[in-house]
Amino acid sequence: MSNKIINLFDLEKLFEENIPTTIAGYYKSGARDEITLKNNREIFNSVEILPKLLRDVSNIDTSISILNQDLETPLLLAPTAMQQMAHPDGEIASAKASQNYGCAMTLSTISNKSIEEVSNLNNNLFFQLYFAKDRKITETMLKKTKQYGFKAIVFTADAPKLGTRERDERNKFKMPDHLSLGNFKGTIFEKFDDRDESAMNMHNELLFDKTLTFEIINWIKDISGLPVLVKGILRPDDAAKCLENNADGIIISNHGGRQLDTAVSTLKQVEPIRKEVGPENLLIVDGGIRRGTDILKCLALGANAVQIGRPVLWGLNYDGQSGVELVLKLLLNEFIESMILTGCRNIEEISRDLVQFS
Ligand code: FNR
Ligand code: LAC
Repeated sequence: MSNKIINLFDLEKLFEENIPTTIAGYYKSGARDEITLKNNREIFNSVEILPKLLRDVSNIDTSISILNQDLETPLLLAPTAMQQMAHPDGEIASAKASQNYGCAMTLSTISNKSIEEVSNLNNNLFFQLYFAKDRKITETMLKKTKQYGFKAIVFTADAPKLGTRERDERNKFKMPDHLSLGNFKGTIFEKFDDRDESAMNMHNELLFDKTLTFEIINWIKDISGLPVLVKGILRPDDAAKCLENNADGIIISNHGGRQLDTAVSTLKQVEPIRKEVGPENLLIVDGGIRRGTDILKCLALGANAVQIGRPVLWGLNYDGQSGVELVLKLLLNEFIESMILTGCRNIEEISRDLVQFS
């Protein structure tokens, strides 16, 4: 069945053909005119590789160490909400698949499967945090994370409100009635209702806290007892402020182009942010990563690791856990090939001089 599938775009095509329009619309959308969504990908074409040759590339080691955890690859699963809309196994399938490929996974606050249900399925789970305005709900969730073995909190800072995805408004997108949000059992957030143009708007009003400032990082650390990575950073000065407020790492992200349209593409910001934060601080990047060479380019410009969002949903929809495994296999094979063909035997050897902006 999978011999037609050579790359991630083949899975994207199958996904578009198979999944109901309203759900496909939610998954694929960017904000407004989707300029950032498009630019996230296009920027990879303007970075060229200068391969190094004759380096004995018979052994390739993709392992990294972040937050004192050893990982087999610098590829992580970004948090994406409501994965049961793609496949009945939802986050269970992506946690198992990523474990089998040595990839860390971040569980979204707005997941269908709960912290408890996913907890034992991957040795490197992070928890993505959205703030309910009712701080008690947030506290309860955060306290569970360490208890259930999660290794870090990913605090998403780019969403004082959700960006407007016009397709969702037109389609009146809502999570299907048979699904629920696992981390909100017994609260008003558990189900979507029909009160608004798009049910995401209703959640916007309840689940996203506009009052937050940099100091909240310390509060999250205190309550969770875990390292905190701040996701959604696009400016060097904001990265610096996160670190001044004791963040343990930065995730350069524009939310897959879903928040502020025409916001800068992420690959452009890797080098300036690395310069600002210095060589030691943890820097992860996401947005438009679909090829092994994309990973190589992010690392050459200064990232320690990268994340993928939508491709996991394509894999899930294709074949649950096996489909996500296929995504990881294809992408990691491409990445290893790009290391072999650029003379990089390990991640440290992926140096800045391997790439240039054209
Ligand atoms: C997301 N993203 C996201 N981010 C987050 O912090 N919490 C979340 O719940 C979600 N949910 C979500 C749903 C869907 C359908 C998408 C496409 C994205 C953003 C995600 O973590 C990541 O930043 C982007 O998806 C990365 O870009 P690519 O790989 O999708 O291009
Ligand atoms: C999204 C949220 C939930 O991008 O992060 O749809």
